[in-house]
Amino acid sequence: MKILLTGSNGQLGNALQAILSPLGSVYAPLRAELDLSNPDQLRQRIREFQPDLIINPAAYTAVDLAETEEKLAHAINAEAPAIMAEEARKLGAGLIHYSTDYVFDGEKLDPHGQVTAYQETDATNPQNVYGKTKLAGEQAIQASGCQHLILRTSWVYSLHGKNFLLTILRLARERDQLRIVNDQWGIPNSATWLAETTCKLLAGLQQENARTDWWAEHGGLYHLSAAGKANWFEFASAIVAQADQQNMLNKAAPALTGISSSEYPTPARRPHNSLLGTQKLQDKFALDLPDWQQCLQACMQGVQAT
Ligand SMILES: NC(=O)c1ccc[n+]([C@@H]2O[C@H](COP(=O)([O-])OP(=O)(O)OC[C@H]3O[C@@H](n4cnc5c(N)ncnc54)[C@H](OP(=O)(O)O)[C@@H]3O)[C@@H](O)[C@H]2O)c1
Repeated sequence: MKILLTGSNGQLGNALQAILSPLGSVYAPLRAELDLSNPDQLRQRIREFQPDLIINPAAYTAVDLAETEEKLAHAINAEAPAIMAEEARKLGAGLIHYSTDYVFDGEKLDPHGQVTAYQETDATNPQNVYGKTKLAGEQAIQASGCQHLILRTSWVYSLHGKNFLLTILRLARERDQLRIVNDQWGIPNSATWLAETTCKLLAGLQQENARTDWWAEHGGLYHLSAAGKANWFEFASAIVAQADQQNMLNKAAPALTGISSSEYPTPARRPHNSLLGTQKLQDKFALDLPDWQQCLQACMQGVQAT
């Protein structure tokens, strides 16, 4: 199977590139060779390579900057996936696309007033430019008629790139006190675990003569996330505790204080609740999903003590 992988320098793309080769021959052009804001180049690369599968973890992910770079964010998050979908349909190829918890407004509560997970059937209502452009990407893929999986995930971290885990590790080494938002709920997800789970989902594509049936049976929109829930304060606390346990800080662990979002204003509005319910994925693919703390521990065991 010929696989075109975008964004292989990003957190998830990097993790995917490391493990995709058993599924087929992987072409993973970096931005210099394939700039997703250049529609002609994107069409040309796809037509030249003629993939059986396009995997698209690339995205404009600078959530705050997107507020002032809407056109570029839209080109990468909405127009590029639309082109991938159109080209995939023409080739009879499949498209794996990643999306985000930020397509929701974060207001969902259970009857007791507690945050509760969003399902794939819940109405979307993004509150920031990034979320709007990602939703537009999902909608373009769905409208294209191509064979696809759209996998919405949340709070991605890894040992590679820029993310909350690496920021907290750095700050925990530098400071004695950290103030972290405790009123935004979601689920942290390790890029390595997301990549491994994507490969499990795709195992059924290896039989070439069964691919069309596989897409008919499995294609669609899913939430892909580890189990459990956390706010950013709890996520930071788990990182610091694990780092302390692994003697990675070379000093006493900092004291953590929970603060409200209003004490940490950002240009882009974040949802209060972005928990993703994964029952549909579990049922369709017969998967058991680990708790997010288990994935964090597995990821951090790869961090070198300094
Ligand atoms: N990060 C999160 O917390 C989070 C949460 C929910 C959903 N998601 C979704 O999960 C997916 C993976 O996210 P991630 O955290 O792995 O992203 P990431 O680390 O920010 O990586 C994004 C990748 O996209 C590439 N890219 C951006 N603009 C490009 C362009 N014009 N042309 C070619 N490549 C371009 C980047 O290339 P360069 O390396 O050259 O910049 C980078 O490799 C995305 O769909 C994202 O929307 C992420």
